[in-house]
Formats: sequence, C-alpha cells, structure tokens
Amino acid sequence: MVEFPNRIILAQTPTPLQPLDHISEQLGGPRIWVKRDDMTGCAISGNKVRKLEFVLAKALDEGADTLITCGGIQSNHCRATAILGAQLGLKVHLILRGEIPDTDSSGNLFLDQLSGAEISDYPIAEYQHLPKLFEQWQQHYKSIGHRPFSIPTGASNGTGAWGYIGCARELAQDFKQHKISPSLIVSATGSGGTQAGLTLGAELFDLNTPVLGIAVCDDAEYFKTKVREDICEWKVAYKHLSGVDKLDINKLKIHVNDQHIGAGYGKASPEVFNTIKSLARTEGLLLDPVYSGKAFHGLAEEIKSGRYEDADDIVFIHTGGLFGLFAQRDQVRF
Ligand SMILES: Cc1ncc(COP(=O)(O)O)c(C=O)c1O
Repeated sequence: MVEFPNRIILAQTPTPLQPLDHISEQLGGPRIWVKRDDMTGCAISGNKVRKLEFVLAKALDEGADTLITCGGIQSNHCRATAILGAQLGLKVHLILRGEIPDTDSSGNLFLDQLSGAEISDYPIAEYQHLPKLFEQWQQHYKSIGHRPFSIPTGASNGTGAWGYIGCARELAQDFKQHKISPSLIVSATGSGGTQAGLTLGAELFDLNTPVLGIAVCDDAEYFKTKVREDICEWKVAYKHLSGVDKLDINKLKIHVNDQHIGAGYGKASPEVFNTIKSLARTEGLLLDPVYSGKAFHGLAEEIKSGRYEDADDIVFIHTGGLFGLFAQRDQVRF
C-alpha cells in the first residue's frame, strides 16, 4: 500500500493509454503506446496539473492566497498555474524568463494574460538570479498583507513528484488491462519532476519497466542530479507515509538521453516539425515543438537506429504542450 499526501482533484484522470498503430508500423519497431496526459484537461491540459494537484493542496494547507512561480515565456507550467489559480480564487504572479516582445501575445502567454495573472518578465541575465527574484516578490506580497507561496520551475520538487507517482499507479492498471509488459516508459524531461515521479512510481507500483527521460534542454548529468535531488527531497519530506518509508531510493536508476536537444531549449529542427506534422496526419495526435514533439522525434530516431529492436511495447507519455505549438506555427511547412 502506498499512502499519498493531501491532493486537490483538478486533473481529468485516469487518462487513456492508446496504441499508435500507424506510426509504429511506419517505424518498423516496437508497438508504441501513448499515455494521453494531453487529455488531463482542456485549458489546463498536460503534465503540470498532475503535479499541481499536490503542490496546490500544500499551498492551501499553508493558508496561501498568492502563488508565485516562474518559467519561459511560453511556459506550460505558468499557464496551468495561472488558470488553476483563477479556478481556486488565488492571485498568481509569474516571473518569466526573457523579455516579452510588444507584439507577442500568443499560445501560453496569451492564456496567462487572459486568466489575469500578474506578469514580470526579466532579461535572461537578470532571470539568472531567480532565488533573489522569488525573495523580492515574496517580500512584496507579505508587505501588502498577502500570504505568498512559491512554486519552483515546472512544480518539480518532492511534492510535485507525487503527480507522476499517481500516473505510474494508473499505468499499472493500464498494463494489466492491455496485457502488456512494456520495455520502456519515455517522456520529455524539462525540469525533471515528471521523470522523478515516474521513476519512483515505477518502483512503488512494480511496473518492472525502466523510465527514460529525453532531455529537451540541459545535458544528462544535469538531469540525473536534478531528478535525484527531487527524489531525495520526496523521501525526506514524506518518510512518515507508508510505502515511502520502505522504498530504498539508492537502488533507483535514472536514465536520461540528451542526444535530441538540437539547437537548445525551445528550438526545434525542421525534422522535429516534420515529425509533429506526421503524427498529426497519421495518428491525429498533436505534439509541441518544445517538449512532446522533440521527445517523440528522439524516440522515433532511436527506434529507426535499431536501438529497441528487441522491445515489443514502449510507452510514450504525452505530456501536453499544445499551446506552445501555436506560438511556433509559422515553422511548420506545408
Ligand atoms: C508539455 C511539457 N512536457 C514535458 C515537460 C517536462 O516535464 P518536467 O518539467 O517535469 O521535466 C514540460 C515542462 O517542463 C512540459 O511543459
């Protein structure tokens, strides 16, 4: 038995696990299944809402009335926080990386603005002092009588990890229902929390399946350290819960592939855009250029290289991100 901490139900779960027969056949490798976490909601779709169910429960438990968080200008996490804040009656302040051009209000940023979040954008040199910016805004809200609660990048920390422990619990049911024992679970890794949760959950729910993160920004060493940190924080914070107490986190293996980052965070190659177009046309599945499309393209490349030729089934976690596609739609060639 695994005891979960307090959670607010915000996501539409369980999400379906579906086979991608057309693209699997095209690639000539294992059968690829997709865990449809792009269907966790409409405006709040994607992976962040699973983490925020636990993080926002903690914020409310602590009496917060204001959420402060951060991310890129097209951050899915900021958009999910902005919308959930509106839903829960909490003020939201977003610290965004990079300056917003006067003419740009598209994709996630448009939804941040639409849902009434306060936005502060910083040039990259200034954003590097992120802890100081959080501290400044914390002090500001306290000084005007608010009770602020800070959420780190991507809600990736020990509390956020529960979101994808919950997803792993669903996957255990999915595997049973479809009578499959996949060789691999793959997802995009951007701030590490999804991978931390899946890695913990795979062990807690006996999936017997390794979890691979396909890095979309930093290198494998960075993510191995970051995922390990989130896992350690989780263990320390929740050791009183049954299931957590017995888990030996030292035996967990963290697998990261950093060969598909391309030109950097948020930058996708024409090949990634072609994969996005191909998935839309062969499967009716919509991926984004920053996370899910880049990761799926990486997986497809690995399959084509023969890396998984012995595998029968592979599960791809569709972590959402559709609004980010609209922000880069002019890069899709027809
Ligand atoms: C759509 C999408 N997929 C994947 C990720 C990566 O998840 P994580 O930040 O938990 O590594 C993110 C956020 O970074 C995201 O917005």
